[in-house]
Amino acid sequence: MRTRRWNFAEETIDEAAQLIRQGEVIAFPTETVYGLGADATNEQAVRKIFQAKGRPADNPLIIHVHDNKQIARYVTDIPRVAQQMMDAFMPGPLTVILKSNGTVAPTVTAGMDTVAIRVPDHAVARQFIEATQLPLAAPSANLSGKPSPTTAEHVDQDLNTRIAGIIDGGATGVGVESTVVDCTSDVPIILRPGGITKDMLQDVVGQVTYDDAIQTDDQPKAPGMKYQHYQPDAPLRLIDGDQAFFQQQIDALEKQGKTVGVIASEPLASQLRTNYLYRCGQRNDLSTVAAKLYYALRYFNQMEMDIILSETYPFEGIGQAIMNRLTKAATDKLEANRHT
Ligand code: TXA
Ligand code: MG
Repeated sequence: MRTRRWNFAEETIDEAAQLIRQGEVIAFPTETVYGLGADATNEQAVRKIFQAKGRPADNPLIIHVHDNKQIARYVTDIPRVAQQMMDAFMPGPLTVILKSNGTVAPTVTAGMDTVAIRVPDHAVARQFIEATQLPLAAPSANLSGKPSPTTAEHVDQDLNTRIAGIIDGGATGVGVESTVVDCTSDVPIILRPGGITKDMLQDVVGQVTYDDAIQTDDQPKAPGMKYQHYQPDAPLRLIDGDQAFFQQQIDALEKQGKTVGVIASEPLASQLRTNYLYRCGQRNDLSTVAAKLYYALRYFNQMEMDIILSETYPFEGIGQAIMNRLTKAATDKLEANRHT
């Protein structure tokens, strides 16, 4: 299949929306990462998403609608806490899990009785969804297991010839996927940390918990969280220690003749001596790290490194989402022995 590529414009949105109505899949930008959209009410169209990505069939998709008012069409009810979160953070990088009323195709929810819904805070995404007059089922627009795409170029690298088109809206802003919150229990549960942090949610609804599986090996409640994810081609090693410790690891590997890609934020990045460095934002503002994280992993894929080393970050605010993705992408982690 020839994959069309559009720059954002009124006519191209209409053309892409028309293809969606004909049952095709189209990649589009959101404020988090690029999504791969299809008509959520069309079983055949939704199956094409799974085929294009190589996604396991038991991993349900998020449906995307253009404004908050549309959500009621797809669920049996909206509990009070869900409504409060929606009022506070939607449109935005938040996905709510609610009881499905069965309107979307069964493949979207992978046979579960709940449905995940979000309203992207991105002008192109919302205009595109509105033009289709449909709810769009959309996972991240990468091959299953690879880092999510934050530019149209990344989508093209993974999915060219597999999908009908890509709407290019430039680089995304947040850089990591939306926060997924199960709102079907009394206390809302974060199934996947993301752009909206636990503290932000708690300020609005009081108590919120994390699914235990986020930091343990328990069976996660979001089916997608159990799969190997966000993997670069070279092994990724997390380095948990100070600058001297990090430098030792680089030097030792380079001495062995390895090409070493280093992902670090400022100020550490400027303190390290290394051949291949990706400056990944500022440590004192973790949102700048999140914005560049997947870009960094894909950058070193293209450079064909032997190994990638990355700094670790505090589990605070969006640091939770960063560390969740880094831990899933990593093959191992080296910790400095702080007692010596
Ligand atoms: O930011 C985002 O959320 C991006 C953009 C494109 O919107 N989308 C995205 O979709 O990250 P995806 O498919 O890569 O991740 C969806 C996650 C998966 O972990 C999936 O298992 C979970 O949401 N999920 C979807 N429906 C669910 C449900 N009914 N119950 C529990 N988890 C669900
Ligand atoms: Mg994904």
